[in-house]
Amino acid sequence: MKRSGLPLLLLLLLTSACMNKNAKKEDSLVEPVRDVHSYSRPDRVRVKHAVLDLEVKFDKKTLEGTATLTVERPDPSAPLIVDSKDLNVNAVEISADGKNFAEAKFLKGASDPILGSPLTVDLPAGAAQVRFRYSTSPQAAALQWLEPAQTGGKKSPFLFTQSQAINARSWIPLQDSPGVRITYDALIRTPKGLLALMSAENDPAAKRTGEYRFRMSQAIPSYLMALAVGDLVFRTTGKRSGVYAEPPMLERAAREFEDTDEMIRAAEALYGPYRWDRYDILVLPPSFPFGGMENPRLTFATPTVIAGDKSLVALVAHELAHSWSGNLVTNATWSDFWLNEGFTVYLEWRIQETVYGRKRAEMERVLAADDLALEMAKLPPGDQILHIDLKGRDPDDGATQVPYVKGALFLFAMERYFGRSKFDLFLKSYFSERAFQSITTAQFQEVLNRTLLNLNPGLMTGEQVEEWLFKPGLPLDAQLPPTDVFDRVDGNAKNWINGLASLAQVDSKKLSTPEWIRFLRMVAPKLDGAKMRELDAAFHFTQTGNSEILSEWLLLAIQQKYQPADRRLEEFLCTVGRRKYLKPLYEELAKSPEGKEKAKTIYKKARPLYHPIADATIAKLLK
Ligand code: BES
Ligand code: ZN
Repeated sequence: MKRSGLPLLLLLLLTSACMNKNAKKEDSLVEPVRDVHSYSRPDRVRVKHAVLDLEVKFDKKTLEGTATLTVERPDPSAPLIVDSKDLNVNAVEISADGKNFAEAKFLKGASDPILGSPLTVDLPAGAAQVRFRYSTSPQAAALQWLEPAQTGGKKSPFLFTQSQAINARSWIPLQDSPGVRITYDALIRTPKGLLALMSAENDPAAKRTGEYRFRMSQAIPSYLMALAVGDLVFRTTGKRSGVYAEPPMLERAAREFEDTDEMIRAAEALYGPYRWDRYDILVLPPSFPFGGMENPRLTFATPTVIAGDKSLVALVAHELAHSWSGNLVTNATWSDFWLNEGFTVYLEWRIQETVYGRKRAEMERVLAADDLALEMAKLPPGDQILHIDLKGRDPDDGATQVPYVKGALFLFAMERYFGRSKFDLFLKSYFSERAFQSITTAQFQEVLNRTLLNLNPGLMTGEQVEEWLFKPGLPLDAQLPPTDVFDRVDGNAKNWINGLASLAQVDSKKLSTPEWIRFLRMVAPKLDGAKMRELDAAFHFTQTGNSEILSEWLLLAIQQKYQPADRRLEEFLCTVGRRKYLKPLYEELAKSPEGKEKAKTIYKKARPLYHPIADATIAKLLK
């Protein structure tokens, strides 16, 4: 209490000066956690560096070559265990000096549908490197191989990876746990004329020789290993940023993402320097199963965010924010996933606030809190917990709104308790103290207690923190964002529904994307066929090029059996592979017997487009 007489800035600076030492000491008191989603034992043998030499074979849909792992051996008698899934390993070789390799025996364990198979290699005394000669399977979960017809340019094939959460093991034999960080070098061989890019240093001016060398000298977890190959071109959007895309998309992508440098500066002002040198965005073909993926130095993004008016660039704020929360300070296991996504959503709100203003950020926050409430109502209590138990389950099961939005609301609550300036300083020092480390929820709590809580007693108790982290539901102290930013659009919606105003009175030109979504959600419970037609006539929702508004509208169209949108629905499901859109639309269709038949027919047609990850979700849903 007495100490709070010192200016906080000084206190935080003083404490952060001795934090690293403290952190080491405290860490040794925390039990090392086992990652239930990896067979590896990094506590005994730990991979530090990987060298990849891979040939990209479009005809066979395989990657073929070698991965050479350099290991550290805390337990000199222990074997190396790596994860693998659907890999064909032809040979394993071992070396003590990195020059002379000798063939070694290896054991492939039984295959688990979620985890794949462990590969065990006995290590003789002195062994320091292990080389795997292998090829991937055409069904590898991380890889999507696109025919030219499935790309934007229509002329060249395309390959991209999606390693998060535990799919890296389907294209590289490695310790596939976010608690293990490695550096890497790679040589990627492609057909001539195509460009290869990785989550590493990329050279925009590289000649298209078909041989590309990469170096990633910052240690990253395996789920950030990434590769893309296609007819890709580059344009700069700022001093440190640029976009890669297929030629027909490049110009629009560069315009859409022109604020990227400003976002980097906004994030740096809050959370400390951007540590990854360049920040480029790769715009993928429409089958990319996610909105975005924060691969270091090279975010992968869906083309559905290119709306033409920068209205969906929250996604860039989000993936950029992962450069601090996630890539710099990483969840040690998938139970700690909220440390990645909850922090990132909170940072995303703050970056948006700086670049686009408070109102915009507040709107996004209200919509997110609504999404959370809707999803939470459907989740069993165990899945409403931030520190989720995922034993025996696919880590994907944990990727709900809970780690994202409940996690962000937890940070939002702390911001209110401690005040913005103290909370901002806490985050900044947390990122610098734990930079390039993977940490658990318990380790986060240790930092939180030692700094923010202890230095500012009486503002938030340890019990409150525990409730946020380990209890289902939303704590009573959750500060739900005020909805008054939507007063005008809520009024419009109510007046129209109650027959007090016409749609002509809605100043539709001035509405932003979140406002349109709020409007649709407000009128949804009172819609019927006639009202759907009236809305469509006034605002042309069926024809909108804004994917967020369109998916919201198509959901209503299914509910209301609004046939004029049928063709657009089918077209959307057959051209977009983003799981966030596919899942609710197929789910809504599957609610009625006729709908389910329709869904199956569309799915049959659309399936070749879908990434294995999205395909698995939809197949399960329509079973
Ligand atoms: N890292 C996630 C994507 C992810 C999570 C992939 C879990 C695989 C497993 C990424 O940062 C993300 O959250 N993307 C969101 C976009 C965002 C704006 C909320 C998405 O793809 O919708
Ligand atoms: Zn994210």
